[in-house]
Amino acid sequence: MEEELLKIREVSKHFGGVYAVNGVSLGVRSGSIWGLVGPNGSGKTTLFNTILGLHRPDEGAIYFNGTCISHLAPHQIYALGLVSAFQIPRLFQGLSVLDNMLVAARGHQGDSFLNSLFLRGDWQKQEVEFADRAMEILELLELDRLALSPAGELSGGQRKLLEIGRGLMASPTLLLLDEPAAGVNPKLGRRIFEGIENLRREGLSFFIIEHRLELLFDFAHWVYVMDKGKIVVQGEPQDVVRNPEFYQIYFGE
Ligand SMILES: Nc1ncnc2c1ncn2[C@@H]1O[C@H](COP(=O)(O)OP(=O)(O)O)[C@@H](O)[C@H]1O
Ligand SMILES: [Mg+2]
Repeated sequence: MEEELLKIREVSKHFGGVYAVNGVSLGVRSGSIWGLVGPNGSGKTTLFNTILGLHRPDEGAIYFNGTCISHLAPHQIYALGLVSAFQIPRLFQGLSVLDNMLVAARGHQGDSFLNSLFLRGDWQKQEVEFADRAMEILELLELDRLALSPAGELSGGQRKLLEIGRGLMASPTLLLLDEPAAGVNPKLGRRIFEGIENLRREGLSFFIIEHRLELLFDFAHWVYVMDKGKIVVQGEPQDVVRNPEFYQIYFGE
């Protein structure tokens, strides 16, 4: 079997008496789009935050590229290439699209940025590399024509794409997206997912929470369905939509 990029084994996270995540095991392999869906309050965001190191799991273990990351700090997990697009600082409305990309890159450098300044002394070279990389990513997201426009002038959908682009400045191998199409119209939602699909073809992997099932199911290779802290159904989208348990969860009562 293909090596799993992300492997979650029996992970639980509770808040007081509430088991937000209750014994979840799942895997994410590389080069694909993996979906996570479920009703409000089913534990999806808590699971993502636990993967990202924002919560420590109460039980279980999380592996990324074969390394146990359950006890690492968020910035360490980030440095390994497991990145959430929306965890980085908000957009600067007055700055250009390109500058927003560069700020994200510099912001992530932290100590290593100072190291490059003092130890390697090729700061300018790095700036040029950042700019080249930023333009490449903007092209993939079809935002390159807007590189010099203020971020404040972007549409809602373009702003989401820019946020994803900023996450990409960290050169992640796996990008976690919590509702990338929330709050944008259906057409733009599709544009966002087409941008994600372009990036997948470039070799990136995605694990995506999305309420817009019709969108996610058109692009995802595999879907996990969560309910009350557990994974209750999983499969290829066309099989999940035919699963009675899936219907019960979404349309039951
Ligand atoms: N920081 C927190 N403190 C206490 N309870 C929380 C916290 N975060 C989430 N919860 C609870 O955990 C459950 C799952 O929430 P969440 O992960 O946000 O679900 P989803 O993202 O699927 O809507 C909910 O009952 C929620 O109220
Ligand atoms: Mg949520």
